Amino acid sequence: MPTVLPGAPTGAPAEPVRLELPPLHLGRLTVDTPVVLAPMAGITNTAFRRLCREFGGGLYVAEMVTSRALVERHPESLRMIRHDDDETVRSVQLYGVDPVTVGQAVRMLVEEDLADHIDLNFGCPVPKVTKRGGGSALPWKTDLFTQIVTTAVREADQGGLPLTVKMRKGIDEDHLTYLEAGRIARDAGVAAVALHGRTAAQFYSGTADWSAIARLREALPDVPVLGNGDIWSAEDAVRMVRETGVDGVVVGRGCQGRPWLFGDLQAAFEGRADRIQPGLAEVGEAFFRHAQLLVEYFEDEGKALRDIRKHVAWYFKGYAVGGELRARLAQVNTLEELRGLLGTLDADAPYPGADAEGPRGRAGSPKRPALPDRWLESRTMDSDQTRDIAAAELDVSGG
Ligand SMILES: Cc1cc2nc3c(=O)[nH]c(=O)nc-3n(C[C@H](O)[C@H](O)[C@H](O)COP(=O)(O)O)c2cc1C
Repeated sequence: MPTVLPGAPTGAPAEPVRLELPPLHLGRLTVDTPVVLAPMAGITNTAFRRLCREFGGGLYVAEMVTSRALVERHPESLRMIRHDDDETVRSVQLYGVDPVTVGQAVRMLVEEDLADHIDLNFGCPVPKVTKRGGGSALPWKTDLFTQIVTTAVREADQGGLPLTVKMRKGIDEDHLTYLEAGRIARDAGVAAVALHGRTAAQFYSGTADWSAIARLREALPDVPVLGNGDIWSAEDAVRMVRETGVDGVVVGRGCQGRPWLFGDLQAAFEGRADRIQPGLAEVGEAFFRHAQLLVEYFEDEGKALRDIRKHVAWYFKGYAVGGELRARLAQVNTLEELRGLLGTLDADAPYPGADAEGPRGRAGSPKRPALPDRWLESRTMDSDQTRDIAAAELDVSGG
């Protein structure tokens, strides 16, 4: 019987692929398996991080919080940066557009000992963010980008915390920013640069451009570069390392509904060929456990059960689960109701193979990014833009 229990992988042994990749060093931190759980708003809370962590080594980044909300101590932001006691590396991602506020948020994390690693989000493509100059629109303004990263690194240094940046290729193919932003971040003293190989205009559509990741790796020989985009399996991760030379990989949608991917990633990075291929009963158990952990996280059963609904399609992708049961799973209100529904799954249904693999999660379609007036006319901020940028310190989600 296949199992999803850590340490009990079930994939058929194939020719082992040995990947010669040393541990990832981020300042004083060492990440033995150079794999990072991509920050995902609404997903990478303590509940999901626990499920992932149980399967493999790596660095598990929390959901993004906005620096202003953190500095103002919004209860939801404080919840989002909480870590379980056994999370040995407490990783937090900040979004911000104002160097002073970002600096204050980093200082707060340092002085109150709330994090061991801080990442800055410069990849968010959501229109309400970019139309005010935040997220993936921001690196276009090299002066503002430099100020934010420099301030954040200086504050993080006070506590010896490594600070990393995560960004996209640019605004669109005619307005690429990643090489220059990578150099600026390197010069500011970041511990690593992560690149999602898409532009803001692409959102999550098309395929990630790994050749851009390779170019960044080449352009920044003296700082770790992490590659992100379209890793759906351990084999994809190995291929990305081989094709681009990156020092580590960042995995987002590929692990949605599939926290055991981190077990596969660790196996691949250790040169083992075993892969975790759970049957339907095990997936049902993992799904239930996720819901239980969300109840603990939100301290509110109704809220947790509403939250788990979005995970249904991901967990059961490719498995023999009828449309009606899927629809009912996506409407559950209590753990008891969920337990009952899961009890009706076919406990003998095996791992479905290719149908459970491949792309999952958000895709979207390309669109012209919304930007502030005259944003693209110059690489530096004018006085109107400087005045207006504060409005981009929104309570945002998404990356
Ligand atoms: C639901 C969702 C939420 C996301 N939230 C964030 C976020 O808060 N911060 C961030 O930097 N990126 C965020 N991202 C982007 C991911 O971190 C990652 O860069 C992107 O999904 C590409 O990687 P993938 O192809 O492995 O999914 C989010 C992506 C998704 C799908």
